[in-house]
Amino acid sequence: MNPMQNSQTNTLTITRPDDWHLHVRDGAALNTVVPHTAAQFGRAIIMPNLKPPVTTAEQALAYKARIQAAVPAGMSFEPLMTLYLTDNLPADEIARARDAGVVAVKLYPAGATTNSDAGVTDLRKTYKTLEAMQKAGLLLLVHGEVTSSDIDLFDREAVFIDTQLKPLRKDFPELKIVFEHITTQEAAQYVTESDCFTAASITAHHLLYNRNAIFTGGIRPHYYCLPVLKRETHRLALVQAATSGNAKFFLGTDSAPHPAHLKEHASGCAGCYTAHAAMELYAQAFDAAGALDKLEGFASFHGADFYGLPRNTGTIILRRESWTVPETFAFGEAQLKPLCGGDALPWRVV
Ligand code: NCD
Ligand code: ZN
Repeated sequence: MNPMQNSQTNTLTITRPDDWHLHVRDGAALNTVVPHTAAQFGRAIIMPNLKPPVTTAEQALAYKARIQAAVPAGMSFEPLMTLYLTDNLPADEIARARDAGVVAVKLYPAGATTNSDAGVTDLRKTYKTLEAMQKAGLLLLVHGEVTSSDIDLFDREAVFIDTQLKPLRKDFPELKIVFEHITTQEAAQYVTESDCFTAASITAHHLLYNRNAIFTGGIRPHYYCLPVLKRETHRLALVQAATSGNAKFFLGTDSAPHPAHLKEHASGCAGCYTAHAAMELYAQAFDAAGALDKLEGFASFHGADFYGLPRNTGTIILRRESWTVPETFAFGEAQLKPLCGGDALPWRVV
């Protein structure tokens, strides 16, 4: 359906969106974060970076059942499961995964981010498995950053494109690849110029903020995520890509909850929690770009189409209405501080 907007665009009705990149953790944390996502999204791609990571079809099914148990009664929400690519993920696990409904495999370069110690040390070690994925039609979801300490943190995504992604693409021309949570002009350009087997997800926080947000009036750990926020030119390139109507770009929150005391820490964890206000934050970003009419494609169509899944049928309604984000949520025994906690946001899902 087309977005129905009144003349001032104070309400926006769009097809129920999906979140194509989400961390929900496990255990008691599920009871806080799964309801937030299920209230807005029909489906979400569930990241497998648990400790230990999800590496078998059997583990993925068990994890899916734990997530489903945390969906509030009366809400419909489908977790789409993924496996974690390691140097030793056997190629024959791919057929089992496909049969279990697993839709994708996640590549974390070893040491790139939270719980990525088990990640890939050398892509060549995974080639048999990637071959099986290309055959089975499973997608490869890529955390696109190199990890070597001699590469500047802010350059790691751009270097990944040249040293890892381009060679990988040459060797697997028909493997569907999602370049996850892109943060740079270089990544937006690479995806724009690539063929139909490549797409990218973009977070709300990378559309709304540049790296100044991490340092405004003191160090702000809740704005620290990986890949880290970049300078304004990159944010503008991401906004351009997201609001262009190009079907290669779609919504992936990368909502990544951590206990507040581990973010407000001498070596604070990477990850911004945004699931509590995901569509509100995207609406704010698209509104600021004068592109609310492009939100539905980005949030509700492009991802499903790229994954080869049916589009959702229901709708959600966003209203221009200021509301104040809670400062904290319970998070098992700990606290969770959401992005924009205590701030007023201009859009609200009703
Ligand atoms: C994610 C997490 O906390 O699991 N952190 C983050 O900063 N995005 C991991 C990831 O997706 O990189
Ligand atoms: Zn992530």
